Amino acid sequence: MTDLADLEAGLTGRVAAAPDTAALEAIRVEALGKTGAVSALLKSLGSMSPDERKTQGPLINGLRDRVAAAIAGRKTELEAAELDARLAAGRLDLSLPAPPRRRGAVHPTMQVMDEMIAIFADMGFALAEGPDIEDDFHNFTALNFPPKHPAREMHDTFFLNPGPDGERKLLRTHTSPVQVRTMQKTNTPPGASWIAAGQSPPIRIISPGRTYRMDSDATHTPMFHQIEGLVIDREIHMGHLKWTLDQFIARFFELESVVTRFRPHHFPFTEPSAEMDVQCDTSGGEVKIGQGTEWSEIVGCGMVHPNVLLSCGIDPDEWQGFAFGFGVDRLGRLKYGMPDLRDMFASDTRWLSHYGFSAFAAPNPASGLS
Ligand code: DAH
Repeated sequence: MTDLADLEAGLTGRVAAAPDTAALEAIRVEALGKTGAVSALLKSLGSMSPDERKTQGPLINGLRDRVAAAIAGRKTELEAAELDARLAAGRLDLSLPAPPRRRGAVHPTMQVMDEMIAIFADMGFALAEGPDIEDDFHNFTALNFPPKHPAREMHDTFFLNPGPDGERKLLRTHTSPVQVRTMQKTNTPPGASWIAAGQSPPIRIISPGRTYRMDSDATHTPMFHQIEGLVIDREIHMGHLKWTLDQFIARFFELESVVTRFRPHHFPFTEPSAEMDVQCDTSGGEVKIGQGTEWSEIVGCGMVHPNVLLSCGIDPDEWQGFAFGFGVDRLGRLKYGMPDLRDMFASDTRWLSHYGFSAFAAPNPASGLS
């Protein structure tokens, strides 16, 4: 036998006997790797005379091809055998309980916001937003709070440190400044993309958002949520306000109809002003809306004060309208019965998994949008 035939017989014999893919890989490197025996032969062709190369070339190349083919064939065999062995050894026990999966939940306030927005959107209200950090003008002055008047104090305002110009910004104490920003068309600060841009009348917007007051007990938290409503047109009156609120309340509480009453109140930015109460029953320890003989306060409202329209450049002899402000967290408590408002923002995941909602629930079964 020639040296080449010896080499080929040795290599193919070892390939056939390789017990696993690792051993086979070692043989491949030994034969065909950079410094392998077959590679060395191929390299030696370069230093042969043309005649010699003519005879040796086909022999060496043939050897290389056959060895490579033998290795590839054995590799396929070994891989199939190794897969069979793994499948035979491994067992999947489908009866084992799955590891627990932690699922997030929608916070009740966000759920209630979505429900409220869905109902008002269905009634044709657009969405407007404004900044949490406000100035005195939008939060108070334009809303007809007299300067230095105690009415300003009643909001327990969080003030920020004065800026270089001496102006003290504040955390908005209500969502009413969005009324002003909408009517003044200034609710689009540079770089922000609030949903509804400011507009001229007719106006029909709601404005949901966070509000802040220095207050903390079972029914107050320093940060809470409101939804403001504003409708401005030529002939809007209190009857429209009552109808809108009655419709909303019935749909929100998923009732055919509700009994409500206006109670005279005072807000600087409305005249006349009222609080609306809804009929309820608290005798069983929980609040049941739509039955009983008691009243639960549900929303502040009124006809927009002419001074507010004037501050926003709208002629009160031509335009008039109503406004209202709901406490979202309070409404959530009435509907879903959370006992202490402070728990809502304590970030306790046990509380959230108890009171939270599935992210896939429809916003409101009573809403035509759901
Ligand atoms: N801004 C009031 C508050 O925070 C709520 C409110 C009352 C808003 C009457 C209104 C309104 O727009 O007309 O207490």
